This record gives sequence, C-alpha cells and structure tokens, in this order.
Amino acid sequence: MQHKDVQKGVFQAEVLSNQQIRQCYYRLNLLFDAHGSRLFQRVIPGQFLQLDLSPVALPDIKQIPEHLKDAAVRGVMLRRPFSFSDVVVTPSTEGPTVKVEILYCVLGPATVRMMSLKKGDSVSVLGPLGNGFSISENLTDALLIAGGMGSPPILHLAGYLKRHHPDVNTVCFVGAKSCADLPFTVKIGNFKGLILEEFELIGAPSHIATDDGSAGFDGYVTDCLRHWLEKNSVDSAKTTIFACGPEAMLAGTARLAQDFSLPCQVSMERMMACGIGLCQSCAVEVKETKNQTAYQLCCKNGPVFDAKKVVFRI
Ligand SMILES: Cc1cc2nc3c(=O)[nH]c(=O)nc-3n(C[C@H](O)[C@H](O)[C@H](O)COP(=O)(O)OP(=O)(O)OC[C@H]3O[C@@H](n4cnc5c(N)ncnc54)[C@H](O)[C@@H]3O)c2cc1C
Ligand code: FES
Repeated sequence: MQHKDVQKGVFQAEVLSNQQIRQCYYRLNLLFDAHGSRLFQRVIPGQFLQLDLSPVALPDIKQIPEHLKDAAVRGVMLRRPFSFSDVVVTPSTEGPTVKVEILYCVLGPATVRMMSLKKGDSVSVLGPLGNGFSISENLTDALLIAGGMGSPPILHLAGYLKRHHPDVNTVCFVGAKSCADLPFTVKIGNFKGLILEEFELIGAPSHIATDDGSAGFDGYVTDCLRHWLEKNSVDSAKTTIFACGPEAMLAGTARLAQDFSLPCQVSMERMMACGIGLCQSCAVEVKETKNQTAYQLCCKNGPVFDAKKVVFRI
C-alpha cells in the first residue's frame, strides 16, 4: 500500500531450479540479471512480477495433468502475474544480486508451460509491479492469514518481518480446502499441533485450517483466527492483520478485523492483462465516501488494499 509509482522494467531471469513440491504445486527459483536486480533490490511483500511464458514449450504430454490436456494447447499471449514466496538480495560493490522464489499452482496453459522450465533457461520478467503490504512503525503484532494459493506473499511477508522487523510478534494462519491443497510441508510441532515447515524455518509460528478437517483446525481459516483472537489479547493500536487468498476469505477477514477493531490489509486478485495500469481489466470497487464507490486498479493501486476500503460483493 505504498501508493507511489515504483520504477519497473523488462529484463531476463535465469532459472536456478524448478521443483515439484506437491501434486500440482511447483517451486521456481530465479536469478535476476543486473538490471532486474537493481529494480528488485527494495521489493516488498505483496508486490509481484509478470512472466512471459509464450516462448516456453509444453512439457511431455504424459506430464500434463489429465484435466488440463485440452486447455494446455491454448496459446499464451499475455504475461502472467506471480508474487513471491521469498526474495534474497545479496549486496556487493558491483551492485546487488536478487534471487526470487515463486510458488505456483498448475491450472492452465501458462502454468503448464512453467512446468517445463529447467535450470539454465532464461525467462522474460516485467516488474516490480503494484504496491505491497505496509508495516507501520509502531507494529508489535502481525497476524498473517492465507488461503490456498494466496500463501506465497504471506510466507514472503513472514520472512520479511523476521529479517527486517525481528521485534514484531508474527503469527500465521494458513487455510486450504484439504491437507493435500496446502502448498507447504505439514509436520507435528513441539506442542503436538500440526505446523508448516516453511514457516517454522523462518521462525514464524503457524496454524493450519482445512475446510474438510483433514489437517489442523476443522473449518475456515478465518474461524481459526477468530478463535485465536478470542483467546489471546492484542493491542489493537499496534496490531495489523495481513491477508491474501480467495475473495470470500478476504471478505471474511475484513469482517473479522472490523469485529475486533483491528487494521487489516488485503491482497486482492484479479485477472490481469497488462499489469501496469493500461488495459483497465483489473478493477476493484472501493468506498470513496460513505455513499459513493469508485474503481481502482488491482495492478497499480493494489494488489494490497486497506480492507475497510474494499467493497466485497460476496
Ligand atoms: C497479483 C497476483 C499474484 C499472483 N501470485 C500467484 C502466485 O504466487 N502463485 C500462483 O500460482 N498464482 C499466482 N497468481 C495467479 C496466476 O497469475 C494464475 O494462476 C496464472 O495467471 C494462470 O495462468 P494459466 O494460463 O496457467 O491459467 P489461466 O487459463 O489463465 O487460468 C486458469 C483459471 O484460473 C483462474 N485464474 C487465473 N488467474 C486468476 C486471477 N488472477 N484471479 C482469479 N482467478 C484466476 C481462472 O478461473 C481461470 O479460468 C497471482 C495472480 C495475481 C493477480
Ligand atoms: S492489468 Fe491492465 S490495468 Fe490492471
């Protein structure tokens, strides 16, 4: 939510690795060239990039999930937006080097092509795009809530807070339809409850919720956070909820934040064509005055918005 035009550009990234982590989830690591590294050295969680996957070949037909075999052959004209699950900036006298990690879910022609990226390949990147999460100076408690593929920027934010704001008490809540849909490794924590290894590695405690009760809290992740807030007292002037996930989850989180008088920032998702504010395809309805709404662009004014401003039609 920094609301200023960040410098962006088009550059090449080298694929360092592209690993399958679950049935339809992959982890792609990219190393940016010098130009891209300069542009991304101050990137913040919630910002995103767009990849040009049009020149990437389809993987072997046997690798393409059965339900995507027809959709996969569609051409990929437009770049596709992705946020990051981690960004590592290594400063040096010749300039910074930036590596990013993208967690992606295979669900259409572009992400099917991503599966065939391999070490040493080159991919065209546009970015950094959008406005990320804002961290106020007096923040003491950060409550991070993620649903399904909304998890990557939340993992990035958890790591960013640990690195740059180590005094902030960060607690994460991650939800999915079922255990198999969590894009992370589930393990038993010290206090018996299930936790996520990727969050544990960065020192951020995590709570799991699944709609079908197959792991962690049995129900919506918003209800898991509500139970937690009922049991733990937080100073509402120094606590913020940060959320990313499907719109229904974000609407539920916005209501929860209102019930507990907590500030809340939500990262919205829209289908995006240009990613830079030109095509108007990614409108988000926001409250302008008490009785009036207006449209802002998810790619340019967002994707992170103040939850109180967003009009949720869900
Ligand atoms: C700011 C932003 C950050 C994102 N970060 C990630 C990420 O970290 N990891 C990840 O896996 N995906 C992320 N996405 C979604 C990703 O861009 C899409 O999954 C991708 O574009 C799909 O391309 P495709 O050609 O494979 O499938 P498509 O054929 O383009 O899409 C397949 C289906 O997925 C749904 N879909 C695709 N994109 C969106 C969208 N933006 N909003 C709502 N529904 C959509 C539609 O129902 C569509 O029919 C992000 C999207 C945005 C806007
Ligand atoms: S994607 Fe084109 S204006 Fe947002």
